[in-house]
Amino acid sequence: MSDKRITLAWTGASGAPYGLRLLECLLAADYQVYLLISSAARVVLATEHGLKLPSGPDAAKQALVEHLNCDASNLKVCGKEDWFSPVASGSAAPKQMVVCPCSAGTLASVAHGMSDNLLERAADVVLKERGQLLMVVRETPFSTLHLENMLKLSKMGVTIMPAAPGFYHQPENIEDLVDFMVARILDHLGVEQGLVPRWGYDQRR
Ligand SMILES: Cc1cc2nc3c(=O)[nH]c(=O)nc-3n(C[C@H](O)[C@H](O)[C@H](O)COP(=O)(O)O)c2cc1C
Repeated sequence: MSDKRITLAWTGASGAPYGLRLLECLLAADYQVYLLISSAARVVLATEHGLKLPSGPDAAKQALVEHLNCDASNLKVCGKEDWFSPVASGSAAPKQMVVCPCSAGTLASVAHGMSDNLLERAADVVLKERGQLLMVVRETPFSTLHLENMLKLSKMGVTIMPAAPGFYHQPENIEDLVDFMVARILDHLGVEQGLVPRWGYDQRR
């Protein structure tokens, strides 16, 4: 089994461009990606990107491949109740998972171990296996409940990365802001990237 395997989950928070760009970068870096998409994430994708994904996993994969114009031989789109997917079991799941964008709803479900669908189960598996879980949460302002859920997960080793791009790289467009966040996520995953200049270096690579 290749080490370069990762679970990517898109949930119904604003920020579909982050999820799409992250998928594109992971596939370009030759990662095998298990993609989980919540129902609300599909609504957000359609709203923010005009991208209406068909309901079946295979048809959704095809639509994504066409949208991103990428080689998708390493992409596996999983159904919400595909309990036989590798991500559903600690014996086979990738050790790394990113929820990006992450809604307050999924944050709460994961913090409470709901495992009510494959996406929540996959996060629960990564937690129990002591893998690496990154949650790119998007909401504003945060309620006390949101903050408590983030603190709870952070204490369990989860990396909470609010979708809060910086401006010190002097972004010229939305893509630059998206790349700022995606670069930080890739850094945490240990995936080599040259999307934005690093602090102290002034040239884009
Ligand atoms: C266009 C759109 C934008 C949304 N933005 C956010 C958001 O930024 N943060 C959030 O927590 N929920 C947001 N929501 C609400 C969630 O999608 C909703 O709570 C949903 O139940 C989350 O389900 P999921 O976690 O299974 O994806 C948004 C919904 C829509 C339709």
